[in-house]
Amino acid sequence: MTIQLRLAAPADTAALADLGRRAVTAKFAHLYKPEDFGAFLESAHSEAKVGKELADPGMRIAVLEENGALIAFCKLVLASTLPAGYSEARTPLELKQLYTDPARIGGGLGARLMDWAMAEAAREGADEIQLTVYSENPEAQRFYHRYGFTKIADIEFWVGNHRDPEFLYACTLAPKDGREGDGLAADEQV
Ligand SMILES: CC(C)(COP(=O)(O)OP(=O)(O)OC[C@H]1O[C@@H](n2cnc3c(N)ncnc32)[C@H](O)[C@@H]1OP(=O)(O)O)[C@@H](O)C(=O)NCCC(=O)NCCS
Repeated sequence: MTIQLRLAAPADTAALADLGRRAVTAKFAHLYKPEDFGAFLESAHSEAKVGKELADPGMRIAVLEENGALIAFCKLVLASTLPAGYSEARTPLELKQLYTDPARIGGGLGARLMDWAMAEAAREGADEIQLTVYSENPEAQRFYHRYGFTKIADIEFWVGNHRDPEFLYACTLAPKDGREGDGLAADEQV
């Protein structure tokens, strides 16, 4: 079965919102009151929100697709919106969400998206990738450590009216002399 990596398009809005909701629900819903988690789902993974992100020229969303179904995605914000002042980076890029279909976790999909995100960040001239991760999510933290991310600050993350301790992670990128390539391998052209 071929898994294709491509940029998301407006036609993916419903499937992307659905995958995001299923992924965060499987991982995190049990931690919160239904009203808090429902508010979070609406603010971060509604079709309206995903539609706005897809239309945002400052964002880039990659999906992995298999047999017409989305099985993983990640979102990049080209100019990081995360709390400033914790790093020396001048052009940090933000990895906003990285999610694999709950049934496919541990199958290498996340690694493929992270490789794309790293290449895309370098191509954009970013000197750092930043992301946030829940303090009680050691599995995801281990995944990010493998790519060279380290914790640079304790921050907070709101799920509805519930405040969580969250970690700000960063990975410095080697400076490059120029822009090269298109970020996608030959078999992954958009
Ligand atoms: C984190 C995540 C995107 C990684 O994608 P993936 O396709 O599972 O990753 P890969 O198969 O390439 O790599 C496996 C690694 O993912 C991490 N991982 C495995 N299960 C996980 C889980 N239930 N939750 C979070 N991370 C997990 C581990 O670091 C694992 O490495 P290990 O096998 O040495 O333990 C994916 O596991 C996921 O969607 N997890 C649930 C949601 C989440 O925590 N997202 C991150 C939000 S900051």
